[in-house]
Parts: sequence; C-alpha cells; structure tokens
Amino acid sequence: MFYPEEVVEEVRSRNDIVDVISSYVKLQKKGGDYFGLCPFHNEKTPSFSVALGKQMYYCFGCGAGGNVITFLMEYENYTFREALEALAMRAGVELPKGEESAEARKQADLKARILEVNKEAGRYFYYQMKGNAGARAYEYLRGRALSDETIRRFGLGYSNMCSDDLYRYLKKKEYPDELLKETGLVKIEERGAKDRFWNRVMFPIMDVNGKIIGFGGRVMGEGEPKYLNSPETRVFDKSRNLYGLNYARTSRKPYMLICEGYMDVISMHQAGFSNAVASLGTAFTPGQANLLRRYTEQVVLAYDSDGAGMKAALRAIPILKEAGLSAKVLSLKPYKDPDEFMKALGREAFEERISQAKNSFLFETDVLYARYDMGDPEQKTAFHNALAERLLQFSERLERENYMEAAARQYHIDYDSLKGLVNAKGGRVGLVARGTPRSYRQEEKKEKPDGIRKSQRLLLTWLIEDKRAYPAVKGILTPEDFTEDLYQKVAAMVYEGLDQGNLTPAGILNHFINDGDEYKEVASLFNTSLSELTKEEREKAFSETVKRIKRHSLEEKTRRVTDIAALQELMKEQANINGLHISLN
Ligand code: GTP
Ligand code: MN
Repeated sequence: MFYPEEVVEEVRSRNDIVDVISSYVKLQKKGGDYFGLCPFHNEKTPSFSVALGKQMYYCFGCGAGGNVITFLMEYENYTFREALEALAMRAGVELPKGEESAEARKQADLKARILEVNKEAGRYFYYQMKGNAGARAYEYLRGRALSDETIRRFGLGYSNMCSDDLYRYLKKKEYPDELLKETGLVKIEERGAKDRFWNRVMFPIMDVNGKIIGFGGRVMGEGEPKYLNSPETRVFDKSRNLYGLNYARTSRKPYMLICEGYMDVISMHQAGFSNAVASLGTAFTPGQANLLRRYTEQVVLAYDSDGAGMKAALRAIPILKEAGLSAKVLSLKPYKDPDEFMKALGREAFEERISQAKNSFLFETDVLYARYDMGDPEQKTAFHNALAERLLQFSERLERENYMEAAARQYHIDYDSLKGLVNAKGGRVGLVARGTPRSYRQEEKKEKPDGIRKSQRLLLTWLIEDKRAYPAVKGILTPEDFTEDLYQKVAAMVYEGLDQGNLTPAGILNHFINDGDEYKEVASLFNTSLSELTKEEREKAFSETVKRIKRHSLEEKTRRVTDIAALQELMKEQANINGLHISLN
C-alpha cells in the first residue's frame, strides 16, 4: 500500500458510510441500520444493509460487503488509490505527496500518454468513418444492422486507404516517434513510418474504465487476416481484459454472457443484452476469469456453434470453475454465432436459449456421449463407466446425487444402477461408497471445515456486536484458536481493538483491501447473521460456538504435537471443555 496506514484510516473515518452510500443508493432506516436495494446485484426487495455503528455495508443476497473505501472501488470501479483520493477530496483531507519513485512516476506517465494517443486515434478513426473517405465503412456497419447509436457507443471507425495518414495526424499533434512506437499503431522504419491499420473498420478495445487500450480492425468483406489486432503494449494485455466489460460491468445482471467476437458483443448489446463480453481473439484465460469474478458468479458461454466454438467452451469451463464461477453453455444452432442468431431470430428467442443453457457438467458429458456408439453394448458400458468417473468429481454427497439424477434422466440410465456404479468406483478410490463405515467417516470429515469456519465467523460477528461476548470468550479462546489463516489475522485485530477500547471493524477492513477479494470475506466475517436466534438460543449457541472452536483448535494442535507431555496437557484441556461455563450474562 502506498499511503501509510494512518492516512488511510483517517480518510476512511472522516467519510461517514451512510452519507456516502446515500448518494448512490436510496436507503431506509430500520432500527440502527439502513437498508436498500443492492447496487451489486439485481433484486426487488432490499437485502443490502449499511451499519452506522460498524461503518460497513453488507448484502445478505449476494455477499458484497466492505467499508466506505471498497464501496467506491466496487461501485465506481476505482482502484484503491482512486477511491482513497476521491474520499480524501470529499472530506477535505490532504494526502501526503511525493512518495513515489521517479521511475514509477515515469512509467505511469508513459502509460497515460499511450492511452492519450489511443484516444486521439479512436477519435480520428471515428471521424474518418463519418466523412467521405469512410462512406464504405459506414455502409458496411449499417449493412450489419448496427444503429448510429451503437456505432457511437462502441466508437467504431475507419482506417482509410492511405498508409500513413494516422501517423501524420498524430505528428501534427506533436507526439514524438518514441511514444507512437509504444502504442503499436505505427511502425517506424528507415524508409518512413507506416500505419498498422489501413482500409479496415476499427473496433476500439476498452478496459473496464472505458480507456482505449488497443484496436481490432476488420476487413470489409473477404480478406486475410479477417481481423487484425493491436499488438500487446504497456497498456494492452490481452489475457487480462475483455471486450465490452466496460459496459457489461454495470449491467447489474446476475450473470455474464461470454461470446467469441467483437461483433457478437456489439449486436448483443444493441439487442439489450448489456452483459455480453468477449475475449480478445485469444482463448479464454485465467486472468479473464478472475476479472469476471469481480462482477459476477455465473457465466453463460455463447460461443460459435461450430467445432472450434465447442472446443473453446470445453477449454473455458475448467478455467471458469477454477476461478469460482459457475458456467452454462448455450446452443445457437442452427446459427453460427450470437450476431447471426440475433439477426435471424431476435431477442426473445435468445432469451429462451439462455434459459435453456446447459449446465457445464452436462455439456461436457454430452460431448463425451457423442463419442460413443450407444447401439453397441460394449461402447455403451464404456460410456457409463466414463460418466461414473466424472460424477466422482463431486465430493459432496447431495451435489453428487443431484448430478447423478440429472445424468440418469438425460441419458436414460436407471438411477439406482448409475448410483451403484458410481459408489463402486468411489469405494475403490476410497472416496464415497456408502455402507462402509471407514469411507463414510472420511466424507464427514470433508464436510466439517465449512462448519467450523462458520462457527469462527459467527463468533467474530458476535465479538463486535455484543459487548458481553468478549469478557466471556477472552479467557478461553486466543486469536490462535481461530484456525483459518485469515480469521486468525482478523481475530488478532479484533482482540487488540477490544483490549484497547478502540475497535473499528471498518478500520480493520483497510488491511485487507488488495488485488484480491479478501476484504469481502472479512466483511462477511463481521456480518454473519445473529438475528434469527431467540434469547435462549443465543445463550446456547454462544456457548456451543465457543466450545466448538476450542475443540477444533485443540484437535489441530493434537495432530501437530510431538512430545508426550504436551499431548497429555492438550488431552486434559480437551476433557475440560464440556465443563466450561460460558455465558453472555
Ligand atoms: P464477423 O465475421 O465480423 O462476424 O466476425 P466473427 O466475430 O464472427 O469472427 P470469428 O468468429 O471469425 O472470430 C471471433 C474473434 O476472433 C474476432 O472478434 C476476433 O477477435 C478474432 N479473430 C477472428 N479472425 C481473426 C484473425 O484473422 N486474426 C486475429 N488475430 N484474430 C481474429
Ligand atoms: Mn460473426
């Protein structure tokens, strides 16, 4: 972090979260807290809460949560720095200057200059298309059913027949050759300078903030290559950007649509599917999956319906899963791509295809199915075996059974037979088989971590919400007893705050604002719901929760301990847990 911790906390505490969020979301007071419609997902009844005391927001619907800084980061898509600077300005806090190295400043300047040239070029292409020279390009785009409004919104343009007009235009604006080279828009050789793009319709590629980071250029009609793209530059990393995301990110739809091409994205947006994005002429990457993960939990793949599109979908699915996104695959048949589908059948038919999109697991098994000849008993059996192997990837029993059920239905297999096959295979690899006590125990173990994590979360919320909790817990649990790494860090800060009487949950969050989504998890730690419990349940749940955490922590220690004396000590402690008196009163 570039600004010192005290500065960050000063800026945070000088901006009241209810004030700030009120200017974006209509909030209503209910008890000590405020509620409104969540700006981070689509909903009709409010599940978004802003807690005045905690100075935090949390959505019980989608899990978005954080402090005033992360709110601006998420809502305005600011970086941490941008959010901090905006809030400092708002509250009149002066931020310290000049801690950046000269070199870092130079790099940042260069990037800004490249973006400036790109913007200038984008404008140039746009006006070229609007003028006489661009008549053919304009006709081409209109011929592809794009409206003037769409053309403007996506900044489409034309690079004309002349081989160095963009270069000369930019030189007139006094940009030096060195800089122009860095943009990838021109090649400067001994014999002179040449534009990279000529006689193409131009698609500016924007990052999430709407800054032009590169271009794609399409030939009008036939020709090779069909699309020519900017090379990667200091500002253009193809594996970490998605075409259309600058608009899609604010679409507030519960899922994103991923297409293959620029034209697909544009015609989807024109038809009202403002949640469509495309990877940039390369295969879908983990970087892109992580980027999407910031905005959604679900994606629908709308790839071309040819073999290449199917392969691309099969490659994208595991990448999406790895990033924690759930995926469905949509069929566009008999049309080639979303653009053609939309032109032929229109928006409602597309909506219908979305609702019919296939769960990614069943999509994969469909592909598998097609490889076997079901008329042949040997091949049919081989398919069943392959299917059963795949079903084993679901380690949770209920989920696995749901998939077994769906697969049995889909491929007309008797459910019990399929289940028998899966369990037999599972038994062999020591995973599932029911009836054998040993593997049953293993499965129980697998489910446990979630439970213990939940207890730890619950207690952290308790500690910040109920003054009576800390004195009751203090002598029994230390931060180390929170076995989850992240929880342990948070617990240490909560304990420290409570000891010194200056606990600020929203301030604790400052420490977890980084590239990842850690702060969201921390926000959820402080917002586990206690409200459904009755008074007696509370008392009981409290004591149970504390005991459970203690028990788990001791079990973990027992597993690691090596000397006998220490082990005996731990066992004694374990035996004492049940007798502990833990009460809120
Ligand atoms: P239209 O024919 O204009 O509708 O394009 P499309 O989106 O149907 O094209 P296609 O499915 O062939 O390609 C999908 C995406 O791959 C494009 O949007 C480009 O990003 C990229 N692409 C296509 N052809 C080329 C090419 O020749 N070179 C490069 N580098 N990328 C290409
Ligand atoms: Mn197309």
